[in-house]
Amino acid sequence: MSIHEKLARLDELKRIAEQGGGAERLEAQHKRGKLSARERLDLLLDEGSFVELDRFVTHRSTDFGLEDNKILGDGVVTGYGTVHGRLVYVFSQDFTVFGGSLSETHAEKIVKVQDMALKNGAPIIGLNDSGGARIQEGVVSLGGYADIFLRNTLASGVIPQISVVLGPCAGGAVYSPAITDFIYMVRGTSYMFVTGPNVVKTVTHEDIDMEGLGGADVHASTSGVAHFACDSEPECLASVRELVRYLPQNNTEVPAQLDGSDPHDRQDEKLLEVVPDNSNRPYDMRDVITRVVDHGTFYEVHEQFAANILVGFARLGGHSVGLVANQPSVLAGVLDIDSSDKGARFVRFCDAFNIPIVVFEDVPGFLPGVAQEHGGIIRHGAKLLYAFAEATVPKVTVITRKAYGGAYDVMNSKHIRGDINLAWPQAEIAVMGPKGAVEVLFRKEIAASEDPQAATDARIEEYREKFAHPYIAAARGYVDDVIDPRQTRPSLINALDMLRNKRDENPTRKHGNIPL
Ligand code: HXC
Repeated sequence: MSIHEKLARLDELKRIAEQGGGAERLEAQHKRGKLSARERLDLLLDEGSFVELDRFVTHRSTDFGLEDNKILGDGVVTGYGTVHGRLVYVFSQDFTVFGGSLSETHAEKIVKVQDMALKNGAPIIGLNDSGGARIQEGVVSLGGYADIFLRNTLASGVIPQISVVLGPCAGGAVYSPAITDFIYMVRGTSYMFVTGPNVVKTVTHEDIDMEGLGGADVHASTSGVAHFACDSEPECLASVRELVRYLPQNNTEVPAQLDGSDPHDRQDEKLLEVVPDNSNRPYDMRDVITRVVDHGTFYEVHEQFAANILVGFARLGGHSVGLVANQPSVLAGVLDIDSSDKGARFVRFCDAFNIPIVVFEDVPGFLPGVAQEHGGIIRHGAKLLYAFAEATVPKVTVITRKAYGGAYDVMNSKHIRGDINLAWPQAEIAVMGPKGAVEVLFRKEIAASEDPQAATDARIEEYREKFAHPYIAAARGYVDDVIDPRQTRPSLINALDMLRNKRDENPTRKHGNIPL
């Protein structure tokens, strides 16, 4: 055969590999509103940047007639490419090939790009669309999953790992995305569950469909398993591209400084009006965040889950920062089980990847109640405290209003190594709010008075005067300064510039024992 004939053969094989499970199955995939494995990679990666690996791999199974049914690539497209010019490794499962199910060789392909991503210090993005373990391969397939889980775990905190669930992801297969840093899902086509609706019906007699059990909205809002629920695959993949811009390539880098064109000294008059005069009135902390960060752009993570705390990425002076903010418009911004989990995981991600943390604090305390206590608010709240305390990245806090009780300590206080802690003049920093404090301290006096309401009001006013302000904390140096709210942006940029070369270390140990 001449070289030209061999090249023609190569082209033919490539063309066959690209067809995956064939035109009919591809059409079925499209009819469900799903893209093919390769179409997805086209949307995710910079145009023309994808380099495929292992396109000629086929399975080794000899059971159930599979020996005569080999499809090039074996149901997963793997390789590397760029997102906004930066290297990422990818795998994209092809549902048209044996339902995207994971065989020994399918697993080996994923493991190869996982190993390369770790060795070369670049993010890995997995596009999941699979019927799970390839049934014909039995335990070998289960072993393949375990090989992937191990690498997910070893890469955790070393390279960013992003999972995009674009079809079924069931059984033990869910635990690969679960270990990764961020999970994206698409409404109507993505499902994640440990056991599907039929098993649920048999075991617990609960009647529920796939969407209700493990669809995008359920996981983004109720279970908190997913960080993002998107309306379509193109929207989802565009969002992943956006996320990557905030991240470093690995844990030895800081994220790249991007466009710093928003003036660093920009002041916003409206910041004077965001916090209502009545300290019990709610406001939306997003109004503060978007007025302070570069170009008002806040890339919110976990938006639908535990909305009483906000987490996400933004830029200040062009530098990536992780924002953690109490949200006074939801449950008055209290800390509860879910918000503690949400905040802790995000803080740990930022710390692992050298992303400075900026906290906007307005927190009345922890949520009281039997459900919270029995659900383990002690254990869960401890996660957020632990995460802030162990973080060694630059940590800056702005107290916009309330900082009460244990929550004051938890929300990146000076005492747990907050680097720069600022307060607005409206800040109230004390053991508890005026009403609660007066009820504890003056219960007997108020009960004995002729006009209990007037006595209460007088004591509340007195308490307010004495404690509900930032100056006792400032007198101790627990807040470094009380600032004009309009100067929040320049103050934060200045603080972060000052902290750019911060070095801090934790004691040498195998690993800490964060309460789980
Ligand atoms: C082999 C599979 C497969 C699997 C699907 N297929 N799942 N082949 N192993 N796990 C094949 C089907 O036989 C079919 O082939 C094609 O893929 C498309 O599947 P359909 O069933 O026609 O598609 P659909 O109706 O959309 O249903 C999708 C599905 C269903 C819900 C995912 O296929 C399904 O329930 N599959 C089994 C899921 C499962 O139980 N997996 C094991 C989970 S446990 P043809 O040739 O007919 O087109 C697990 C353990 C992980 O994964 C281990 C970690 C510890």
